[in-house]
Amino acid sequence: MNAAVYQTKLDRLNIIKQGKVRDIYDLGDCLLMVATDRLSAFDVVMPDPIPDKGKILTQLSIFWFNLVSEIVPNHLIESDVAAFPSECQRYQNILADRSMIVKKVEPLPIECVVRGYISGSGWKSYQKDRTICGISLPEGLKESEKLPEPLFTPSTKEEIGLHDININFEEATNRVGREVAEKVRELSLTIYTKGVEIAAEKGIIIADTKFEFGLLDDEIVLIDEVLTPDSSRFWPNAIYSPGGTQPSFDKQFVRDYLTSIQFNKQPPGPPLPREVIQKTREKYVEALKLLTGSTHGL
Ligand SMILES: Nc1ncnc2c1ncn2[C@@H]1O[C@H](COP(=O)(O)OP(=O)(O)OP(=O)(O)O)[C@@H](O)[C@H]1O
Ligand SMILES: [Mg+2]
Repeated sequence: MNAAVYQTKLDRLNIIKQGKVRDIYDLGDCLLMVATDRLSAFDVVMPDPIPDKGKILTQLSIFWFNLVSEIVPNHLIESDVAAFPSECQRYQNILADRSMIVKKVEPLPIECVVRGYISGSGWKSYQKDRTICGISLPEGLKESEKLPEPLFTPSTKEEIGLHDININFEEATNRVGREVAEKVRELSLTIYTKGVEIAAEKGIIIADTKFEFGLLDDEIVLIDEVLTPDSSRFWPNAIYSPGGTQPSFDKQFVRDYLTSIQFNKQPPGPPLPREVIQKTREKYVEALKLLTGSTHGL
């Protein structure tokens, strides 16, 4: 196991954004995106890192960017730290395997969520009025059941500390324009479907996921991270059983722990027990191994 990276302070580079997980530096004509080992649960960033998590998310995203590059262009320019611009070289130890040089794009102000199974906020909404994001669904679906077909269920993109809000397709068109909304809906469903097929061969159900797109000139580009345990619900197929919540691959131990101590879902998060950190790390490693067959960088 490598030393954890909770946050980066690359003093000679210009940090422009700290997300829940990623630190972003402006390199002039491109960005340096560093995935740290921070973990957020219930939208609150925990005070303890999960060692190697940022490396795992980065390696998984690279794996998927390559696999879906025929469907849509993505923001990845370089992931080999030795080939990063010279001003990054003094930080090689921190950056290796957890960072990417990416194209600078204007992120769309929506999150492109695709659901193949009914869970989380989708299940809550269905129980209320049998719809998700304005899409009517058949009666009698069970929690975690496979949907008749994958749904595009966009949400707003809120600042840190606020929960994203589900919106219907019309609202998405108001935010990004009809042409772009239709295009990202189609792209999201196509990428999700390809991801589902590949993950199924490795025993993983991708119940739902979130994509982010940006505009570069007039081109739509896939950005951020793709089909990782942070952006998706991964369920082990072997024990899938609709009719309740499913054990998920990643944050289950953290969520269970937070529930057990009746965490009020407001920052700051509580310290995490060593065992919770350890077990969570093992789950991320397992997802990486199962999907890519490699543990590069760990
Ligand atoms: N190529 C890019 N150009 C510009 N901004 C980008 C690019 N790729 C990612 N981003 C932005 O960088 C940030 C990455 O930070 P991080 O992944 O920690 O996300 P977040 O917004 O805090 O939370 P979450 O992804 O969980 O919603 C996001 O705001 C994302 O929109
Ligand atoms: Mg993100």
